[in-house]
Amino acid sequence: MNVHASALAEAHLPDEQTTAFARDTIGDLSQQPKKLSPKYFYDATGSELFEAITRLPEYYPTRTELSILRERGSEIAKIIPEHAALVEFGAGATTKVRLLLKHCRFAAYVPVDISGDFLQEQANGLRRDFPSLGIHPVAADFTAPFELPSAVASLPKVGFFPGSTIGNFEPHEAQAFLRSAREILGRGALMIVGADLEKDERVLHDAYNDAAGVTARFNLNVLVRINRELGANFDLSAFIHRAIYNREQHRIEMHLISRKSQTVRMLGTSFSFRPGESIHTENSYKYSLERFSALARGAGWRVRESWTDAARMFSVHALVTSE
Ligand code: AVI
Repeated sequence: MNVHASALAEAHLPDEQTTAFARDTIGDLSQQPKKLSPKYFYDATGSELFEAITRLPEYYPTRTELSILRERGSEIAKIIPEHAALVEFGAGATTKVRLLLKHCRFAAYVPVDISGDFLQEQANGLRRDFPSLGIHPVAADFTAPFELPSAVASLPKVGFFPGSTIGNFEPHEAQAFLRSAREILGRGALMIVGADLEKDERVLHDAYNDAAGVTARFNLNVLVRINRELGANFDLSAFIHRAIYNREQHRIEMHLISRKSQTVRMLGTSFSFRPGESIHTENSYKYSLERFSALARGAGWRVRESWTDAARMFSVHALVTSE
């Protein structure tokens, strides 16, 4: 146990997840420039704030993807084999998966998520509404290899990764994820992936700098979580939210900017901030149809079809295995 982990053990008797959170946070804040992993946004408050973001007038991705799934549902259904197993990587609100389940005749649904409690809640709701569907939740980190339940072994497989969560991975991680999904689902599988498209910078800027300040609260909440779970003393009023579009990298970057010179303490370590210094908290990559296709190709998939809304804000891709 290193010095930080043992300080944490004294303070909180941590579980494995808290120890990983402490290790990642200390490592990331010790780097130059400082950063934090976006996966830590999603505690209970962060998940609620994200749900609130999806309803904001400026945040187009969720409702646009839903409209594509709704309007193209019967086209999507045509390329999905009957009685397949639908494997969803990460389990959020069930609105999107319900659209697929309604349009296509799936025999089984396999939601995969690190949070077992959340999976059970989600599965119970779906069992009521789709009584003939076999539901087999898997509690696992979907970015690492995991085994599919034996009950779906003989069924054709369809992966589902909506929401443009793929954009929150670095491109090499996105490719590694798609390759791992390809291994898990097997040869002959299909995969439906939602990806946000490149567009007018003003639209992107507003989607991540909403007038009501919900995205700012979502970003700052990671500091609230670090204070609560790791005993840090971040002063929230001393940091401001900033989201900018990085044109060369095709990504929105979220930052927390220190308003002043300050020192924050956590688990026996001090972190100094200069005025204006940033903690880089998230990247949200935007893909043109061509760049998404190249990403998929590099991971053993081929784009069979891509659907966009009329304003070309968002894309949904159907991938088939190429190897
Ligand atoms: C979850 N993910 C796809 C969101 C996005 O747009 O990158 C997270 C988010 N960050 C700020 N607003 C929304």
